[in-house]
Amino acid sequence: MAQDGNVKDEYDLQTEKIQERMDRISRKILIMSGKGGVGKTTITVNLANALVDMGCTVGILDTDITGPNVAKMLGCEDGVLGSPDGTTLYPVEPRKNLKVVSLAFAIQDPDAPIIWRGSLKNTAIRQFLADVEWGELDYLLIDSPPGTGDEQLTVCQSIHSLTGTIIVTTPQPVAVLDARRSVGFSRKLGCAIIGVIENMSGLVCPDCGKEIPVFGIGGGQKMCQDMHVPFLGRVPMEIDLREAEDSGVDFMASGASHPSREALMEICRKINFGTACSTGRDTSFLGTPQCSPSACASCTSNCPSRRK
Ligand SMILES: Nc1ncnc2c1ncn2[C@@H]1O[C@H](COP(=O)(O)OP(=O)(O)OP(=O)(O)O)[C@@H](O)[C@H]1O
Ligand SMILES: [Mg+2]
Repeated sequence: MAQDGNVKDEYDLQTEKIQERMDRISRKILIMSGKGGVGKTTITVNLANALVDMGCTVGILDTDITGPNVAKMLGCEDGVLGSPDGTTLYPVEPRKNLKVVSLAFAIQDPDAPIIWRGSLKNTAIRQFLADVEWGELDYLLIDSPPGTGDEQLTVCQSIHSLTGTIIVTTPQPVAVLDARRSVGFSRKLGCAIIGVIENMSGLVCPDCGKEIPVFGIGGGQKMCQDMHVPFLGRVPMEIDLREAEDSGVDFMASGASHPSREALMEICRKINFGTACSTGRDTSFLGTPQCSPSACASCTSNCPSRRK
């Protein structure tokens, strides 16, 4: 029986289960974008690998139900979710301290389309949150499809202790326009915006070293200034990065020096060690219920400390 005397329904019980599971995870971060193909999954898997390299335990939940790419980019698409008791699901572990859950692990034929209505997607995501034995984690990175639809809504409404969102955009105006909607979505839902990553921000010519602004440069950073949201950094385009993702190789572990890897490392340090981001907002509040006073002064999110 619930405290108010009503019998709890299945949904409430599942919500409680999600809460219990999420309480064992320090930081839960939703990676989102307005426009598709801007690099959310690439950013997710590389941040995850970098955080593991820094000694963290990390989970990735792939909520892109119809286009799940996380497993492919991590080179673990043959993985299988374990479920010895038929109820609890155990993630695939492509490396020590990294746990991954994706619908890709449940699909036999990679060419088969997944044609699901929103309600089915919501059910699957809530089931992943409630039934997966994530254990104790430092981070749960939640990859999402583009937009501000069912998947993002389900994540934000199901995880009451969501740490915040990371918004990925390319510098081009059409992507930035959509990224602004992701900012608006986060604010409307009361999610703290951890920051914006400007991906595919220039391409350094491998021959002459000159930077080519394929999608422009600086559009995401300017949006952050305009909208008073933290800017986490620019990640340039690089052929080696694209090739690593296509072949499921850990790009962060590759030996050669790469500007995109340096940029990803720097972003990772900002997130993990809570140094101030370039807009001046202190990110050290991550994983705690408190924002710093300076953060709250420029932050328009509806996070618990701001509501006081
Ligand atoms: N900085 C980069 N340099 C080179 N290639 C990149 C970079 N970022 C992403 N890519 C490549 O761009 C493509 C799209 O990236 P990705 O799949 O991560 O985008 P996405 O936002 O997750 O897409 P979707 O909206 O479909 O989920 C991939 O082939 C990826 O390898
Ligand atoms: Mg993706």
